[in-house]
Amino acid sequence: MAGTRLVQWLNLLLCALVLLKTEGADVGITFVQDAVAKGAVCLDGSPPAYHWDKGVGAGINNWLVHIEGGGWCNNVTTCLSRTKTRLGSSKLMDKEIAFSGILSRYQKFNPDFYDWNRIKVRYCDGASFTGDVEAVNPAILSGCSAGGLTSILHCDRFRALVPMGAKVKCLADAGYFINAKDVSGAQHIEAFYSEVVATHGSAKNLAPSCTSKIRPGLCFFPQFMAQQIQTPIFFVNAAYDSWQIKNILAPGVADPHGTWHSCKLDIKKCSPNQIKTMQDFRLQFLSALTRLGTSSSRGLFIDACYAHCQTEMQETWLRDDSPLLGKVTIAKAVGDWYYDRSPFQKIDCPYPCNPTCHNRVFDTKEHPEL
Ligand SMILES: *[C@@H]1O[C@H](CO)[C@@H](O)[C@H](O)[C@H]1NC(C)=O
Repeated sequence: MAGTRLVQWLNLLLCALVLLKTEGADVGITFVQDAVAKGAVCLDGSPPAYHWDKGVGAGINNWLVHIEGGGWCNNVTTCLSRTKTRLGSSKLMDKEIAFSGILSRYQKFNPDFYDWNRIKVRYCDGASFTGDVEAVNPAILSGCSAGGLTSILHCDRFRALVPMGAKVKCLADAGYFINAKDVSGAQHIEAFYSEVVATHGSAKNLAPSCTSKIRPGLCFFPQFMAQQIQTPIFFVNAAYDSWQIKNILAPGVADPHGTWHSCKLDIKKCSPNQIKTMQDFRLQFLSALTRLGTSSSRGLFIDACYAHCQTEMQETWLRDDSPLLGKVTIAKAVGDWYYDRSPFQKIDCPYPCNPTCHNRVFDTKEHPEL
């Protein structure tokens, strides 16, 4: 028994080492003890934390601040249970994590940002850093999922923290959550975001230009506030964002008979009717995007994939078989946009038109609901 365990463990370690050698590199955690006195803490009162892989050579003064994702908690019960997880307590966070994709330190895997200072800020306030804020020469604020939303909500505030004259841009990966009705016709995500904003007292940390006009809960949706963002920002998002399909379009409460269950796990298993519903969701997504306006400083990479977060995983960021839009990888589109080599604003044709997609297939166990 112990022998088998050891072999299993050694195998795991070997796999991990091979993975590290080819793609990631582990980076240690730093806790921000000072923040506790300022009240900038995780849900359980523990200090916030980040991982920092230092820049080298030409990148030594450049900064990429990437915010971790992880959904939101919408009431005292769900926020309390979050304190028992790494998403609510820094005591439970891994002390080392692998940096890959846009965080990779290897030129081959991340040609434009590999030598920058790359920071991954751990997410533990349950409210996309609107509950209480702590924050940072060229600089990028990026993030995926709830972290992508953070990057949208706080882009201009981040800009204001960085010295004048520095080139600052934001990157939101899978952060463009839309206010769509679910398959039962209910406003599920709208109600959920209103609860998040009320529970965390987020209203005062959302854009006043938005909260002065509409309900604060709505200002958590990029479509109602992102047109106000002054700083250049790039949106990387799958038109069929798998988190949004699972939690906004077809959440468990809207699908009591589980008709959507296998479709949500694997887009290939969706019925023609479900695909039709998802095509309609894509149109709503594109319509929500048009509210951004047409500023050329905005970047758009909207692929026809069933995916969620594509900048942090090497396979979707930059690899021989990574997703392409107009023959361009996400790494190249973002790099060219950041360095003003060329703008990028492209929206893919509808599913299943793009053969380069890495459509996610989920395990039955790994099926997070809201
Ligand atoms: C808290 O939110 C969860 C998820 O939306 C819900 O199931 C639960 O009933 C809510 N609890 C309270 C006390 O409002």
